[in-house]
Amino acid sequence: MYYGMYEGFIRPCIFKLDPETAHNLIMKSMSIASNNEFLTSLISQKVPSRPCKVMGLDFPNPVGLAAGLDKNGEAIDAFAALGFGFIEVGTVTPKPQPGNDLPRLFRVIPAEGIINRMGFNNYGVDKLIENVKKSRYDGILGINIGKNKITPMEKSVDDYLYCLEKVYDYASYVTVNISSPNTPNLRTLQRGDSLANLVKALKQKQAELAKRFGKYVPLVVKIAPDLTDDEIESICNTFLEYEVDGIIATNTTLDRKVIEDMPHVTEAGGLSGCPVFEKSTEVLNKINSIINKRIPIIGVGGIDSPLAARAKFENGASLIQVYSAFIYKGPKLIKDLVTYCP
Ligand SMILES: Cc1cc2nc3c(=O)[nH]c(=O)nc-3n(C[C@H](O)[C@H](O)[C@H](O)COP(=O)(O)O)c2cc1C
Repeated sequence: MYYGMYEGFIRPCIFKLDPETAHNLIMKSMSIASNNEFLTSLISQKVPSRPCKVMGLDFPNPVGLAAGLDKNGEAIDAFAALGFGFIEVGTVTPKPQPGNDLPRLFRVIPAEGIINRMGFNNYGVDKLIENVKKSRYDGILGINIGKNKITPMEKSVDDYLYCLEKVYDYASYVTVNISSPNTPNLRTLQRGDSLANLVKALKQKQAELAKRFGKYVPLVVKIAPDLTDDEIESICNTFLEYEVDGIIATNTTLDRKVIEDMPHVTEAGGLSGCPVFEKSTEVLNKINSIINKRIPIIGVGGIDSPLAARAKFENGASLIQVYSAFIYKGPKLIKDLVTYCP
C-alpha cells in the first residue's frame, strides 16, 4: 500500500467527519483488516529493522503505538502490519463502561493537537483478552490497565490487581495508568502513600503471578506531564524503592497555554499531540536525571517527526510511542520514525 497519499487524500476525507465518527470508522476498518490475513498483508508496510532490548524484552524497533487508540485490542494485527515495534492496547477496566458523554473528542488542527475526555470507554478486560487470544500477533504487546469510574477511590487498588491478574499471561508488559485526567481523582494515585500502596501491592502480585505462570512480565507505570519537580522526585523515589520495571512519560496535559485562542481550547480533557511535546519532554528529562538509567523510560507526547523522536531519546527514552501525530500524518510517520531511529 502506498501511504504517501495519506495527508493529501485520506486525512481530508477523515477530517470531514466529526472526530469520534472518524475514530470509529478507522477502528472498524482496522479491525476488519486485522481479522483477514490478505487485508492485513495489503496494508502492511516494510520498515527497517532496529532491534533493541528493553526491560528484558526484544523489540524489533523502538517505535510503539500508544494506549488509547486500540482500547479493546480489536485491531492488533493491522497496527502491527504498519511497522510498529510494539503495540499497547487499553486502557481496559475490570468491567465494561461507556465513558463520558459525547462529544468528547476534539481536533485542535492549527497545533496538530487533540483534546479528549473519553473517560476509559472500553468493553472490559474479559473482552480484551478474548481479542488478544484471537490475534495472530506474536510481537511485544503492552496491556494498559485502569479503574472503573464507579469504583470508589479507596478501592482502586483492587481494580488494578484484578486487571493485572487477568491480563498477566497475555501481556509482554503491563502498564498501570494513573495519569488519565478523565477519570475523577485518578491522578491522585500518583501522590505519596497512595502511589506507594498501589505500587507495592502490584509488585507483590507480580511476584506471585511470575511464580504461577513461570514468567516475569514487567510492570510499567504511566505518569502525567502536569507534575511539579517535587512530585516527580517523590514518584521516582517510589518507583526506585519498589523496583518498578518501566516508566511511560507522559499522558495528556490539562495545560492549555500553548493553544490559547485555538479551536476547542475551552473543552475539558487531556491535550495531546504537538502542544504536549515540550512539557512531556521536560518531564522525561527530569525523570531521567533522577532515575539515571536504573529504570527504562518510554517517551511519549507530541512525537511528530524523526527530530521530535530524537529529542525523546536524547532526553533519556529507551523506547517511544505515538498516538496523535499518527492521526495527523498517517502510517508513513511510523516508517520515518523507525528509519531515523538512533
Ligand atoms: C483520544 C485519546 C485517547 C487516549 N486514551 C488513552 C488511554 O486509554 N490510556 C492511556 O494510557 N493513554 C491514553 N491516551 C494518551 C496517549 O496514549 C498518549 O500518552 C498521549 O496522547 C500523548 O501522546 P501523543 O502526543 O503522541 O498523542 C489517549 C490519547 C488520545 C488522544
